[in-house]
Amino acid sequence: MSGLLTSRTCTRHVRLVTRCFSKICQPDENIRRFISENTEVAGGQSLTPEIKLRLLTPNCRFWRERPELWPFDDPYWAIYWPGGQALSRFILDNPEVSRGQTVLDLGSGCGASAIAAQLCGAAHVVANDIDAVAAVATHMNCELNGLKSPVCVTDNLIGSEPDGFDLILLGDMFYDEALASSLHSWLDRCIRVRGTKVLIGDPGRAQFEGHDIRRLLHQLAQFELPESVREENYGLTCSRVWCYHPEL
Ligand SMILES: C[S@@+](CC[C@H](N)C(=O)[O-])C[C@H]1O[C@@H](n2cnc3c(N)ncnc32)[C@H](O)[C@@H]1O
Repeated sequence: MSGLLTSRTCTRHVRLVTRCFSKICQPDENIRRFISENTEVAGGQSLTPEIKLRLLTPNCRFWRERPELWPFDDPYWAIYWPGGQALSRFILDNPEVSRGQTVLDLGSGCGASAIAAQLCGAAHVVANDIDAVAAVATHMNCELNGLKSPVCVTDNLIGSEPDGFDLILLGDMFYDEALASSLHSWLDRCIRVRGTKVLIGDPGRAQFEGHDIRRLLHQLAQFELPESVREENYGLTCSRVWCYHPEL
């Protein structure tokens, strides 16, 4: 009797442990499967055709599907934004900017700018996005490009104690006024405390053009957007890269 109880307890215990273990381990696997089934390897039509990315394209089910059926937060990571495209192009064209550097790609989405920095020989790359699905997509995109994954962080770093980053990359992160303002003050602290270099890619969004930070930026490059990117981005025609050089 007691043996049976022990064996039942033990079986229950094993089941419980197995269930907990699969709860811990499966989400990433499920998300990976979902991403594989609902995105397409693309990127060839972007400003960085040498970087392959899993993206939401017109060939994917959810391009037309009712948005409420999408099981996660809005899939920013499934789009390669024009600001990120320009920034990644700039990084690839100027490998000395990230070579040997400790780089933070903040608001990394699909991870393209982090990938560009890795391809250029950055010493350490952190991809930071508050969407945990973006971290899985970034891992998958790194694998697609034959790279080891950067460290993916999903905490909100804006406002945190400035870490030892040499370079912070911001692709299309000035789409919301409140976000832009909190970023602005945090960047000032990172520059003041750590001497961090900050590069911003933006296609001329109103929230960016109208923000206080805009007049403190120096333009480094301008890229004409490919036709398909223009069509998907309602009239945006070019995207620029800026360096943030405040007098602090
Ligand atoms: C417009 S997308 C840009 C993605 C990528 N940089 C690109 O250019 O393709 C903005 C991304 O920022 C992320 N994001 C928003 N607020 C954030 C925050 N406080 N910290 C980190 N990521 C954030 C979103 O989840 C989204 O993936």
